[in-house]
Amino acid sequence: MLGTLYGIGVGPGDPELLTVKAIRILREVHHVFTAASSKNDYSVAFEIVKEHLPAGTPVDKLYFPMTFDPEDLENAWHNNCQKVADTLQEGKDAAFLTLGDPLTFSTFIYIMRKIRQRLPQAPVTVVPGITSYQAAAASANVPLGEGEETITIISGAKGGERFREAVHASDNLVLMKTYKHFNDILAEIKGAGLESGCCFVSRCGQNGEVVETDFQKLEHMERPHYLSLMIVKKRGLDA
Ligand SMILES: C[S@@+](CC[C@H](N)C(=O)[O-])C[C@H]1O[C@@H](n2cnc3c(N)ncnc32)[C@H](O)[C@@H]1O
Repeated sequence: MLGTLYGIGVGPGDPELLTVKAIRILREVHHVFTAASSKNDYSVAFEIVKEHLPAGTPVDKLYFPMTFDPEDLENAWHNNCQKVADTLQEGKDAAFLTLGDPLTFSTFIYIMRKIRQRLPQAPVTVVPGITSYQAAAASANVPLGEGEETITIISGAKGGERFREAVHASDNLVLMKTYKHFNDILAEIKGAGLESGCCFVSRCGQNGEVVETDFQKLEHMERPHYLSLMIVKKRGLDA
């Protein structure tokens, strides 16, 4: 009997944004896995859920390198997947924690894909989480979309190019992973004349949360925290 793999969305930071279903499953599973940066041992997702885990629940932090190098990534995913697969093969249920939602720009997607290849019979259950951009919109009181508007979610991990491609076809855009190429992304937003429709949110729901709508302040900001995103609205932030 194989155990079940649960992908658990834990929300973006505020522990009160954890779902009732996520809490129930976390109290029942045999093993918890969470992604951690290879640079440090800290897992925000684990900090959000730790008070709900029964004492003695084994927790494994899996290290993923922050790189685009396909070989490094493949090796990390292979080794990490092996640990999850071993647990499932012992007949134990395993929860993989994801900040925000497990199927939105998440490491869980790779884990799920690899486990399906390796153990096609293993049941997989995904518990959705409140995404970072939903919580960010709530923190800033900025509507993400209404009526016939389009909402486009973009990764800024490689710079402002995706924004440039999408901005013509979208009313409202969410830029995730903005920290590395922050200035390039700001330049694209300025180039499109959308400074007054831009809202920046960092560490949403966590200590040190920042909500900034003054574009000039953003231009003078240091490189932001990894957990930062932007919402850009063509009709302006109040529309
Ligand atoms: C790997 S993606 C994870 C997305 C996540 N699965 C979700 O549903 O929101 C990481 C990016 O999500 C955004 N993010 C995640 N948590 C955040 C938070 N608390 N505040 C602001 N942005 C956040 C940032 O853009 C960050 O670079």
